[in-house]
Amino acid sequence: MMQLNAQQQQQLDELIALLRIPSISADSNYKESVAEAAQWVADALTKAGCDHCEIIPTAGHPIVYAEKIIAPNLPTVLVYGHYDVQPPDPLDLWDSPPFEPVIKTTPIHPDGAIFARGACDDKGQFFMHVKALEQMIASNSLPCNVKVMIEGEEEVGSDHLEDFVRANTEKLKADVILISDTGIGSMEAPAITTGLRGLSYMEVTVTGPNRDLHSGLYGGTVANPINVLCKMIAELQDDNGKITIPGFYDEVVTYTLEERKAIEQAPIDDEAFKNALDIAALEGEKGFSTLERKSIRPTLDVNGIWGGYTGEGAKTVIASKAHAKISMRLVPNQQWEAMSQLFKQHFEAIAPKGVRVEVTTHHGGKPYVTPIDNHAYQAAHKAYEESFGKAPVALRDGGSIPIVPMFEEVLGCKTILMGFGLNSDAIHSPNEHYGLANYFKGIETIPLFYKHYCALDKKV
Ligand code: BES
Ligand code: MN
Ligand code: MN
Repeated sequence: MMQLNAQQQQQLDELIALLRIPSISADSNYKESVAEAAQWVADALTKAGCDHCEIIPTAGHPIVYAEKIIAPNLPTVLVYGHYDVQPPDPLDLWDSPPFEPVIKTTPIHPDGAIFARGACDDKGQFFMHVKALEQMIASNSLPCNVKVMIEGEEEVGSDHLEDFVRANTEKLKADVILISDTGIGSMEAPAITTGLRGLSYMEVTVTGPNRDLHSGLYGGTVANPINVLCKMIAELQDDNGKITIPGFYDEVVTYTLEERKAIEQAPIDDEAFKNALDIAALEGEKGFSTLERKSIRPTLDVNGIWGGYTGEGAKTVIASKAHAKISMRLVPNQQWEAMSQLFKQHFEAIAPKGVRVEVTTHHGGKPYVTPIDNHAYQAAHKAYEESFGKAPVALRDGGSIPIVPMFEEVLGCKTILMGFGLNSDAIHSPNEHYGLANYFKGIETIPLFYKHYCALDKKV
């Protein structure tokens, strides 16, 4: 376990306090806890020394906004993060309650990790910025202006943030956006995330007979909606792991061999990947590496499926309806609205006559690729190099932060993704955790970004 000095102990205690607030944005029963977390974050930003701090109510959950303006002629960094968390279920798979943080060591985190929902995604990560800012303000070393925007709806699609950003482009004006809400690859060979996938999230309902039926009296005479749904889902991918929706790959950017070699600078160790998940084999699109499959290639996954009898024991029944939630991860230049439309058309087209299908879109988001030939990326590169003693590699990740491409479109600002999480941190899963070493390394690296970003030789 890591020895902490008094300042680190304080930084950890504050994070623990934030992690105790169950700010689950998806569940309306937790609306007050989400509001409580917003207030807590606003207080922390005020304490950090921000001049101006406000909680902006929305039709959903509030946005926390704060500023520290040093001088109007200096560059401005806009920090974004989210204080909302994913629902913690299934609760019985947690070793300790999700909102009662505990610190434990693991083989990957010999210095200790903090276990709680939101520890890595994203409370532990955005709070590093609050603490780094506090240190820079206290020591008079903040070299530029900082605006901080922490939202409470990232995990449910950032619906109201978009309106807020569109209505406040002057207030949010910045030179670069800085986000810690992604991974670092590994602490020994750090990586800066340079890409995020887009997303289309669909829901389908297959309806057969007008009521549930006795599976003996009717079985074999009607299309069973659950059987049909499973068959339709199976048809969405072929034996090579390619998605069969017509037109799905039309806009996908293909890479040259040279570019693909560059991507493999920090390859995934397939053996370690399998072992960590207790699986005998990896599956995916033929002809691509594990890293490529989860970064530059689009994918399709069922996230949930339900229908019929799922209670105790056995009930002989043909359900009238079957449902599934299906997500597609998208890559440049796929447009999520168009992909949702293609999915809908195809899913309706492959339905057999004996059922009706209904397809709806939940939400979506564009993919994003950060350019690396700019001063801000170079500053992040130098910051990691200085704090880790090793030059970071550029790595595209598989997750999505749909607000990032929106920032670029509305604010005209590039985003730098300075993430410190590990793949094994179990974000969105039971026993989510965040390494203490990662947390403190983040607090150390962020001020170095500011130092290099504001250095006089502001050239690419
Ligand atoms: N922080 C994640 C995204 C992420 C994690 C990107 C790790 C890259 C590496 C974010 O909170 C998230 O979970 N995003 C959602 C999308 C959102 C619209 C619900 C996702 O990727 O599923
Ligand atoms: Mn996140
Ligand atoms: Mn998340």
